[in-house]
Amino acid sequence: DRETLASKEEIKTLLAEKDAVLVAHYYTDTLVQELADETGGFIGDSLEMARYGRDATESTIVVAGVRFMGETAKILSPEKTILMPTLGAECSLDLGCPADEFSAFCDANPDRTVVVYANTSAAVKARADWVVTSSIALDVVDHLSSMGEKILWAPDQHLGRYVQAKTGADMLLWNGSCVVHEEFKAHGLQQMKAMFPDAAVLVHPESSTAIIELADVVGSTTQLLKASQELPNQQFIVATDRGIFYRMQKASPQKSFIEAPTAGNGATCRSCAHCPWMAMNTLERLKSVLTKNDQVIEVDPTLIERALVPLNRMLTFSK
Ligand code: 13P
Ligand code: SF4
Repeated sequence: DRETLASKEEIKTLLAEKDAVLVAHYYTDTLVQELADETGGFIGDSLEMARYGRDATESTIVVAGVRFMGETAKILSPEKTILMPTLGAECSLDLGCPADEFSAFCDANPDRTVVVYANTSAAVKARADWVVTSSIALDVVDHLSSMGEKILWAPDQHLGRYVQAKTGADMLLWNGSCVVHEEFKAHGLQQMKAMFPDAAVLVHPESSTAIIELADVVGSTTQLLKASQELPNQQFIVATDRGIFYRMQKASPQKSFIEAPTAGNGATCRSCAHCPWMAMNTLERLKSVLTKNDQVIEVDPTLIERALVPLNRMLTFSK
């Protein structure tokens, strides 16, 4: 509508005036991803967002995603201003892994190499030996395990279990989970597969083991997007946040994408498989932060120094 178009134009002007670039995650709403596309910004998975933010030449990065993504951008580029549409955009994995409890867990298991998922606070990263995202978790753990290292893994238990099963690594798991991916139901997915026998099933590894077992492809958002382009199937059942559909449909307009069911009876639930915190990244808030310059990500410099070590290990490993 006209109001939305006007908002988008205003935001484009503000981004240019402020020497700011918009970096959005695939799970943000279509309008936000369109804006990133239209302004020469970036859309990607959490690893790619981190890399893009680090290398961006603009003095301000606007991170449309959730808080840990903004913090990662700040840790990698402390000299840049990192804004977010709202600092209230949390993540259940981050919230479920408080730094003090996590630190005690590490202290109790000093013989283990600490590998944390990027979906954590700067303080948790600062306590880790390695940071990983879903796109390279398997490779990093496989590498560490082949050197005989035992792993302490946090916070996502489902991704941890998946990596453990794939690599055979000795892993002690924190019991966090993603409120979005945990909603997918295996019984419903089985029914849906029977209804669409030619469809390939794409699953993000934050989903439960029962869902992962039904997958044709398991991977990070970028890996799933790639599979949707490369596989010959014309239909896909997708078990991840529905924000990804914008990019999948754009890349393959002739293919059809179906949301994996979040209810046991094979029915889809349009309000479930969407992260409530990603949904806080609205055009209105984007305009507001670019006008008021509030919602600035700050990270304690001593934490930056410590968190940078495991983050850089990840970035070097994934080159
Ligand atoms: P990706 O690393 O696949 O982007 O997933 C991270 C995530 O959970 C974002 O919410
Ligand atoms: Fe966190 Fe899940 Fe939301 Fe991703 S989708 S930000 S893992 S709660």
